[in-house]
Amino acid sequence: MIYLKEVDSTNKYIKEHVSELDSFECVFTDNQTEGKGRTGHTWLSEPRKNATFSILVKDKDINTNFNIVSIVAGLVVAEYLDMLGLNNVTIKWPNDVYVCGCKICGILLEGQLPDYLIIGIGINVNQKNFEGLAATSIYNEIGTRLDTKLVASDLAEYLITRLKNVNDKLSKEDLDEFILKDYLAGTNVTFTHKDEREEGLALGINEDGSYKIKFNEKILSINSDEINTLRKSENS
Ligand code: BTN
Repeated sequence: MIYLKEVDSTNKYIKEHVSELDSFECVFTDNQTEGKGRTGHTWLSEPRKNATFSILVKDKDINTNFNIVSIVAGLVVAEYLDMLGLNNVTIKWPNDVYVCGCKICGILLEGQLPDYLIIGIGINVNQKNFEGLAATSIYNEIGTRLDTKLVASDLAEYLITRLKNVNDKLSKEDLDEFILKDYLAGTNVTFTHKDEREEGLALGINEDGSYKIKFNEKILSINSDEINTLRKSENS
């Protein structure tokens, strides 16, 4: 694990140093000043309170399974939180992790496929206040302060072990686990389809990691790389 006291973004750092870094190298920072979120959002994190880190994957066999890697990353975080004793951990497809409707972890996958993939993870560990955002932390849920570097290195180790076994389908265990933790299934969601904002009914995950939505009496399967984001609609 490369430790940086401060950096703009750990994903960006890996991108800029990709040729010098080995596969499964992990970059952690105590203070991420320009954290990137999905769909152009920023990822805010108080200095030294949370785990903000990225893992580089240069293995083409893994990187060709982008959808699956995306799901497995969320599952690993959710299982880790279960293990720590947090209750009601759910996953908003593809990999946002929530506790009782409050976000606790976001994951951003970037890269140049299949050459390299960067898995950036931001998990709220010891931060108490989120300035009116619907967010929470491990500390807020179980009242225990954890070493942020240890959280990151444990998660990186679990995730790398799991990634070495991914293929083009989710395992039955992963599929069942996702179904149990699915934050969206059964709710109305808005999503982008053919450049239009549409509304449909979230049905659940497919074994290739895509997500089924009932829309205009048809069932659409959407991939995590082609869609911006799924949101619960107001009337859900
Ligand atoms: C999201 O939920 O929108 C994804 C957030 C991802 C944040 C992490 S923090 C470490 C890594 N570096 C970044 O700049 N972003 C990711």
